[in-house]
Amino acid sequence: MCGIFGCYSKQPQNLIKQTLQGLKILEYRGYDSAGIAYRQQNQLKVIKAVGDISQLSHAVKTHPTTTICIGHTRWATNGAVKVENSHPHLSKDGTIAVVHNGIIENYNECCNKLKTLGIKLKTPVDTEVIPNILCYLCHNKHNIHDYLKGQYVFCAAEKHKDSLFLAKKGSLPLYIGRDNQQTIYITSDTLALPRTVNEIITMEDLDSCEITNTKIFFYNQGHPVIKTWQPFSQSYLPSNVNGFSTYMEKEINEIPDILKRITTSYQSVPEIINTKQELQQLIKKVKCIHLCACGTSYHAALILAYIIERDLHIRAIAHISSELTDHTLIHEPAIAIVISQSGETADTLAAMEILQKHEIPIISLCNVTTSTIAKRSQITFPLLCGPEIAVASTKVFCAAVLVGCFLFNHYDASTCNNFIKDATKTLKTARQHLPIPRDLPKQIFIIGKKINYFLALEAALKIKEVTYLHCEGYPANELKHGPLSMVDNATLAIVFGNDANNAIAEITARGGKVITLPSPPSDNPLLFINQIIPAQIFALDLALSLGYNPDKPRNLAKSVTVL
Ligand code: F6R
Repeated sequence: MCGIFGCYSKQPQNLIKQTLQGLKILEYRGYDSAGIAYRQQNQLKVIKAVGDISQLSHAVKTHPTTTICIGHTRWATNGAVKVENSHPHLSKDGTIAVVHNGIIENYNECCNKLKTLGIKLKTPVDTEVIPNILCYLCHNKHNIHDYLKGQYVFCAAEKHKDSLFLAKKGSLPLYIGRDNQQTIYITSDTLALPRTVNEIITMEDLDSCEITNTKIFFYNQGHPVIKTWQPFSQSYLPSNVNGFSTYMEKEINEIPDILKRITTSYQSVPEIINTKQELQQLIKKVKCIHLCACGTSYHAALILAYIIERDLHIRAIAHISSELTDHTLIHEPAIAIVISQSGETADTLAAMEILQKHEIPIISLCNVTTSTIAKRSQITFPLLCGPEIAVASTKVFCAAVLVGCFLFNHYDASTCNNFIKDATKTLKTARQHLPIPRDLPKQIFIIGKKINYFLALEAALKIKEVTYLHCEGYPANELKHGPLSMVDNATLAIVFGNDANNAIAEITARGGKVITLPSPPSDNPLLFINQIIPAQIFALDLALSLGYNPDKPRNLAKSVTVL
């Protein structure tokens, strides 16, 4: 996680404002602290603040023109959330400032090496070794990958030099963009590039580069390489909440339109129809489908595995990406389906590496089709949701299930249209069916059977993510095998479906309060997708009533790029 943004210009400009704007868009990658460094009169000025980018903007009192500015928005891994632990980190002599995303795995080894050079680090943050090692390498900075282990991208600015140094090891994203004015931008995500940018270069594994005022020098594993600028046009318009209370509310309300977009595109866009046919040919040859994902995307995988087994009669196993190991039995002939909103989730990328060893085709369902997961898949099916800004995933869950239904099932236009109408109705009536309780429960259980159980898992994740209340999704009949011991009169149970009467009786007998959300009249998975909407709205309303910002839950970030 963490977001990097930087600017380089031949002529002094207000790059600080530009950097703050870029960081604001990257805030989804981490928002516990932020900082910038810029060059002024051969000095590196560093400003940092705890909190999100608005706190940093307050701390930046003046905007002098400059030719170099680098910035960072942090999701803490090593070291507490404190000003001194936030980036940029300076070398001991103060000549190099670094912003970094990733983890330096040989941190201890680096510290020992630096100790022998008389350098004692000031913070427990692994980033701090980078500027010090760069100082040590002096003119041989492109050898940096020989010294650092792990997955990382970083950008370094120097006090005595009008240049920027970049390096990347592993799969974390880093892009360089430029406009007609020859201003250069560095970013963790192309979404943050200004609209004037018309060309980009994607940094690849083991690349490094130095941006100077005459040229950009690229290296790979320490050897010079030539890279070509690729045309780029910014399609993303930094959005606002459009009259809604939060991005989370806005995104839940976008669900019916997204379902319509998917329904139309998956039935009419030739490219999608062709890849769908390609997938269907693959499916004919397989005995097992392995699905891999994390969090909300994993819950979508559980539903899809269920409908693949039920409707296609093919063994389907949903794996939590980080639980897939070299020992996992991959029953071949097989294919793998990975699901990811961001396309950058490190745990899912690691699972893909394991699956690749089996040489089975990997198909992704991905919202960001330019992402690393999409690039590393044989086929990618787009989820067509547009950027999801709120940290808690809502619209993309529904999109992933619907796209899966299109791929593994056959739906006619009228079923889909009814389903979309139903989603619009559900949005309007959600608060009647699932109102937030007057008295705050001590804990919430969400229970259901089969698909309703998978929905219960997703609803519980949403509630705990944004309300910080203890909430658990459970199979209805399993309650009596243990967790019933926790049920008391401060417990709320939300029941998905009409088939959990025994569990309901067991809860009410112990004083628990029960709200039931009836199942749709058919067991069509499309109709089940709409069941999640009231729970998403419930989580949102409860978070707001408790005074929390559901768009930025504590301790979380949108794109989880660490293992
Ligand atoms: C929950 C949530 C996370 C993500 C998970 C996987 O609301 O957003 O659980 O679903 O981190 O992320 P992606 O789908 O980007 O791979």
